[in-house]
Amino acid sequence: GSVVHVVGARPNFVKAAPVVAALRAAGQPQSVVHTGQHYDERMSHVFFRELGLPEPDVDLGVGSGSHARQTAALLTALEDELSARAPALVTVYGDVNSTLAAALVAAKLGLPVAHVEAGLRSFDMTMPEEVNRRLTDQLSDLLFATSPEAVGHLADEGVDTARVHFVGNPMIDTLLAHLPRFDPEAARTAHGLPGRYGVVTLHRPANVDDPAAAAAAVAALREAARHLELAVPLHPRGRAALEAAGLGDAPGIRILEPLGYLEFMGLLRGAAAVVTDSGGVQEETTVLGVPCLTLRPNTERPVTVTHGTNRLVTPDGLAPALRKALDGDAPACEGPPLWDGRSGPRIARVITEWLDHHV
Ligand code: UD1
Ligand code: UDP
Repeated sequence: GSVVHVVGARPNFVKAAPVVAALRAAGQPQSVVHTGQHYDERMSHVFFRELGLPEPDVDLGVGSGSHARQTAALLTALEDELSARAPALVTVYGDVNSTLAAALVAAKLGLPVAHVEAGLRSFDMTMPEEVNRRLTDQLSDLLFATSPEAVGHLADEGVDTARVHFVGNPMIDTLLAHLPRFDPEAARTAHGLPGRYGVVTLHRPANVDDPAAAAAAVAALREAARHLELAVPLHPRGRAALEAAGLGDAPGIRILEPLGYLEFMGLLRGAAAVVTDSGGVQEETTVLGVPCLTLRPNTERPVTVTHGTNRLVTPDGLAPALRKALDGDAPACEGPPLWDGRSGPRIARVITEWLDHHV
């Protein structure tokens, strides 16, 4: 039986790459379906080139829209695609709309689903991602968890523990595999940044969609930029709102286009501190040992706080937290368990054994 990987958005590509590579090494027949949720060169194609992900076998070209419209388009396109392919297993990643849509379509077609990055919970149902995670986990036959607390959440929700596998974090496989190619000097000089700089990414609806929230975030960043020059590679979502709130003309703030993975990680590796609302960036800074200030009231990744460099901050708390991070010694952390670069092979082993028993 073959495995179909469904991917659609930037964080999916970084998580899928090591799983696809490990299954390929195991000789497992597989294909990659790109939903087209993200479609710009800098949001999509660059990751396939840089991460050695095989070009998608098909791109469904679903594109952007409201949640209902985008999800409806995903469901319709994926139903045709997955019925035609009739795989033995559909593998989905993370918590984006493409993830939930693929899991839902597969479940209704009677196709088994594997969820990579299962069990993360922010306990904040105003986040679209929390809705996607909870529902995807309920629909999954194989659940791959990145942290012990994720395993606990699934047990609390009544998921059969035999389906759950604690495998570590495949996004960190990608980081460790490409680490020698992250060049902070090259990334810094390419953008005319001084020796000491910070990196900012913001794209969560709670920070960028509401003009009052965007204004508060921008005010906090302007204050922070008095202590540290900030490079801000901006996700297309909310770029207009953040610029309207005055991010563009602020002294010490440099707005950049979304960056390719290698350049972004080069910049991250050399940063004195990072401000973000990204899920992946909280994890990557933990492994790189770079102080991370997360501009959110909660995180579905508490292991980056308990075992890493991450701190949650409010807009008002950002500048003081940044000063503290810059003054303090680099936080010593051993890193979360099993974030060791071998998650892809662990997932591949579980999948191939599962296929042997079920197909
Ligand atoms: C999506 C995920 C979010 C994830 C993020 C990673 C959902 C509900 N959200 O958010 O969890 O953190 O991806 O980056 O799935 N756009 C472009 N070019 C693109 C893609 C999007 O310009 O290639 C713009 C469009 O204006 C679009 C907007 O970004 O309407 C939002 O895109 P969408 O995929 O709906 O959600 P993200 O905010 O990217
Ligand atoms: N990333 C990148 N270029 C950028 C911003 C992010 O290559 O300009 C990478 C980075 O590895 C990050 C991943 O894309 O972890 C996903 O990021 P994003 O913040 O879009 O998604 P989230 O993790 O919040 O769902």
